[in-house]
Amino acid sequence: MQRIVSGMRSTGKLHFGHYLGVIQNWVKLQHEYESYFFVADWHALTTKYDKTETLKQDVKDVVADWLACGIDPEVSTIYVQSLVPEIAELNVYLSMVTPQNWVERDPTLKDMAKILRTKEGTNSQISYGLMGYPVLMSADIMMFNAHAVPVGNDQVAHIEITRDIARRFNNIYKTDFFNEPKPLLNDCSLICGLDGNKMGKSFQNDIKISDTEEVTAKKIMTAITDRSRLRRDDLGHPEQCEVAFKYWKIFGDENQVETVRCECEKGKRGCADCKRQLGALINEKFAPIREKRKYYDEHPEEVERIIKEGSEKARIEARKTIEKVREIIGMY
Ligand code: TRP
Repeated sequence: MQRIVSGMRSTGKLHFGHYLGVIQNWVKLQHEYESYFFVADWHALTTKYDKTETLKQDVKDVVADWLACGIDPEVSTIYVQSLVPEIAELNVYLSMVTPQNWVERDPTLKDMAKILRTKEGTNSQISYGLMGYPVLMSADIMMFNAHAVPVGNDQVAHIEITRDIARRFNNIYKTDFFNEPKPLLNDCSLICGLDGNKMGKSFQNDIKISDTEEVTAKKIMTAITDRSRLRRDDLGHPEQCEVAFKYWKIFGDENQVETVRCECEKGKRGCADCKRQLGALINEKFAPIREKRKYYDEHPEEVERIIKEGSEKARIEARKTIEKVREIIGMY
């Protein structure tokens, strides 16, 4: 069976964008591939090294969200990056063979650096660790010799560097040990935030997987609709509805979407009512996930056990790779 590796930075509770864009895909793929899913807490440190108070809880929240969404610890290996220190050792070897200009060229990193520079204080510096972001990511992926990496579009440039590093390692040490992993993109719908922009935690336009039904319903009421529509019986333009109708298309079935479209166009459906129904639909769809999420909130020891066992399992594989890599390089 082919292997996949993927991770998310530990940024705390995940939102619908994570679910629809990434996790849903992982849930499906875990039955088709030998799967390794991890929380990238070192990658979180590349920008948040001075804000570590919530780090432990952030890691647990990410894993609890995954479990609730259906990542199955009996099927996939779930672990925390820093609990597999072999990754750090592989990072050292890979950093030796990676030309400096490869990391400097990484467009995703350039964007991160640009954002950092606009901030005040110590955090505005680009650290050596942040420069090494794509190399560390390569170590994550190559640690388990993944064939493919299921990620969103924004990560593809990083995976390109990983392929380059794997090829270069193989060339330098005259081996074919490492696979050149491919990005595995999915055709999942990209969900916009409640304000019509990209959904993101820092934009405060997201709905969390762990939000309660009340919070979800309230948030949905703030979703942007058709801005040209002022009164309840004005004729609506579903295709110009910036958020609510898009959500209907993601969460509703064909009949529901058609009903909404017709009633809106005929001015028979007010935006407030429409969003009330939408909120109820979303809450219904997410009820099983939320129930599981609540269970893990109430049983943090179970999340901790899953993290511990998964990380131990990952380490067994990681040690094998590291031994092989040391041998290939010719280490003592
Ligand atoms: N950079 C990824 C993100 O920000 C997280 C990540 C770290 C990752 N290492 C990885 C993803 C390895 C895939 C494979 O979401």
